[in-house]
Amino acid sequence: MDDPSAVLELGRLLPETVLQVDAVARASEQAPGGVELHEPVFTVLAEPAAAPPIELRRPILKESLPTILDHAPVALRHPHRRATFELAAASLAGFRAAFDGLGFTEIQTPKLVASATEGGADVFPVDYFGRRAYLAQSPQFFKQMLVGVFERVYEVGPVFRAEPHDTSRHLAEYVSLDAELGFIEDHRTVMGVAREAVAGMVEGARQRAGRSLELLGVRLPDVPAAIPTLHFAEAQERIEQATSERAVGEPDLAPAHERWLGEWARREHGADFLFVEGYPMAKRPFYTHPEPGRPEYSNSFDLLFRGLELMTGGQRLHRYDEYLAALAARGQSPEPFEGYLQAFRYGMPPHGGFAIGLERWVAQLTGAHNVSQGHALSAGPGAPRPVSLPKGPQGVGRRRPPHPSGGGLMPDPVRVSLTVNGRTYERDVEPRLLLVHLLRDELGLTGTHIGCDTSTCGACTVRLDGDTVKSCTVFAFSAEGCDVQTIEGLTTNGELHPLQRAFHEEHGLQCGYCTPGMIMAATAILERSPNPSDEEIRTGLEGNLCRCTGYHNIVEAVKAAAGEVATHA
Ligand code: FES
Ligand code: FES
Repeated sequence: MDDPSAVLELGRLLPETVLQVDAVARASEQAPGGVELHEPVFTVLAEPAAAPPIELRRPILKESLPTILDHAPVALRHPHRRATFELAAASLAGFRAAFDGLGFTEIQTPKLVASATEGGADVFPVDYFGRRAYLAQSPQFFKQMLVGVFERVYEVGPVFRAEPHDTSRHLAEYVSLDAELGFIEDHRTVMGVAREAVAGMVEGARQRAGRSLELLGVRLPDVPAAIPTLHFAEAQERIEQATSERAVGEPDLAPAHERWLGEWARREHGADFLFVEGYPMAKRPFYTHPEPGRPEYSNSFDLLFRGLELMTGGQRLHRYDEYLAALAARGQSPEPFEGYLQAFRYGMPPHGGFAIGLERWVAQLTGAHNVSQGHALSAGPGAPRPVSLPKGPQGVGRRRPPHPSGGGLMPDPVRVSLTVNGRTYERDVEPRLLLVHLLRDELGLTGTHIGCDTSTCGACTVRLDGDTVKSCTVFAFSAEGCDVQTIEGLTTNGELHPLQRAFHEEHGLQCGYCTPGMIMAATAILERSPNPSDEEIRTGLEGNLCRCTGYHNIVEAVKAAAGEVATHA
């Protein structure tokens, strides 16, 4: 721009001022976006009332997670945050395109319902003109009924689970991608269609969110024509043989076992996806079809994506008398299900379906540890919402007196129970307390360090259910039920872990500030690859910064410990 007074004038404007620019656009290879503006004339359309509390111009946001969430309307404008939701939108568009192409009809079903779909206590009760109603846990009943109308239906909509806490794997409110189809052979027909859903989402992301994928460094998975499949019983046997951990006879797969299966699928089949079929009937809802010949198992499945359950589905019962028997077997009266049961009384084809959690998909795709990071405006209790709804751990709105600091509503504490280094702790925590502060300030485990407020240094790295996480990016409440390992947990009977010894012997540290995080990250590298190459070690430690040692000795230390770690374990 040639006019110095105009430059000066623009320099006085606050960030996020909304401008209209009239100019001549010329193509330019050097210019960002490939276009240069000449002879621009600026008109201010709207001036902000205040400077934004978030520095959006930085390539990576430097504010802490609570600050980012407190200022979500501004923070979401950052290219990285926005890219996550562009990815979600593109995946959704791909899902819709795939199902429209397969002859499915999109439906919208009620979200205020008279009975709990999945049973159990995790429903949000609401007052419906003096009567008890619930927020829908899933569109399950409606989509089944509508198979009787359209044969093939799908829905994208919110669902609500009143989990006592949101956890790193669950949200109390999320977006569910549901599908249901009739005239199936069994659950394997549904699995074939489920594969198309995922392929559509990947294709949608590839076609519509290329720039976001690049910005976030996301590798899209290949969706094999035939996704590898294991029966639940076989999966348990393999896990037990390989890990010596008890798995056979358990009613479900533990998160660590899902991760093991994810690694197995990658190793044996080069696949990011794995179907596990035949879950025990005891863990599936009453409408699930049992496995012919083995009624303790079901014609149901989960789809694991990189070691995390992404989708649940299966074949449903379709005969009226089967429903009456299934409800009776669980001691439930058919009365509250009268409307639903009509569909079966008046004839339904064999059918089945599945559901995918959108936030899980995005979180797993982008490598975010916590599913709430795949959620635009809600990230658990205490998070800001467009309309402020203070809520307690059970989701019941409760107002507290204003905080003396003038900070307005104080969120209720949330009870969290977790295992740290093999010991179980229960604490009432402020919903936005970070895991690193819980470890250091409440549990006294000060080996976990804080080296930045930008989630970049890795000094706070711990293991959470086996994953390597920066504990300054995880809310304490979201570690509910998790198994945490910190540097203190590596020492056995006063004897240092081989990695701790090797860092000492190979001079892998000077001030030692980064060392606990480095070592925790290194434990994961050696679990993945018992004899890692230099490159594997450097890649594995990319998220950990050392300001004084240089990385050569650190890499040597990890290599020196490698052989010994296998024996130590
Ligand atoms: S303190 Fe967590 S990454 Fe720096
Ligand atoms: S040893 Fe000092 S920061 Fe790494």
